[in-house]
Amino acid sequence: MKILFIGDVVGSLGRNAVTEFLPQLKKKYKPTITIINGENAASGRGITEKIYKQFLELGANAVTLGNHAWDNRDIFEFIEEAKYLVRPANFPEDTTPGTGIVFVKSNQVEIAVINLQGRTFLADLDDPFRKADELIETAKKRTPLIFVDFHAETTSEKEAMGWYLDGRVSAVVGTHTHVQTSDERILPNGTAYLTDVGMTGPYDGVLGMNKEAVLRRFLSSLPTRFEVPKEGRTVLSGCLIDIDDTTGKAKKIERVLINEDHPYLFD
Ligand SMILES: [Fe+2]
Repeated sequence: MKILFIGDVVGSLGRNAVTEFLPQLKKKYKPTITIINGENAASGRGITEKIYKQFLELGANAVTLGNHAWDNRDIFEFIEEAKYLVRPANFPEDTTPGTGIVFVKSNQVEIAVINLQGRTFLADLDDPFRKADELIETAKKRTPLIFVDFHAETTSEKEAMGWYLDGRVSAVVGTHTHVQTSDERILPNGTAYLTDVGMTGPYDGVLGMNKEAVLRRFLSSLPTRFEVPKEGRTVLSGCLIDIDDTTGKAKKIERVLINEDHPYLFD
């Protein structure tokens, strides 16, 4: 199975980049399934039902979230019915709507898609490591193919999760920090790993936000409202992972980066 994972889609420019490039990426790489992290898709904050459905129509098989999952209140209206929407699994079990694991099937091969959130410099959720143990046990009853989107702030927590899950899941890919890292590798026991897949959206901002507002905050230390630019150049960040259908071990991981400085699709 070949997975295409597209990182943190930010605002309308991010959605435009997905609309423009996803068909081209699908044509070029022929992924079996496509996963999109959509936690910043609605103006940088959360996701709406309309956007979730748009991603599915564009060919996503699952949409993962993160710490901004609840920022757009629309989510509370549709999350229980959204079969392929995955929110961080380590939110409190009894009070959180939605699910942290979904199963996606394509060509008779099934994969579990898990979303977890880190705790370093983020909310103090349940332990993502022990939650991962629990979900892997659930997933293994159905399939050896398991994809983990680990939405976390620090490289150390992400690397630690990669090692913790090595050999037990097919892939651990980090999201949230919005800048793609170049450390993709297959860990010794067969788990594909990438610290952060990067973002999809405004290319000339600060992590997808309007750079003037971010600069104003750094220069003045006063509260500033961050907005997502609606015009300008875009970046699409993602990765492709090839997994053995029988063992669930990863065979290959490669990064995808499309912007004017890395215009390989513009040849
Ligand atoms: Fe995030």
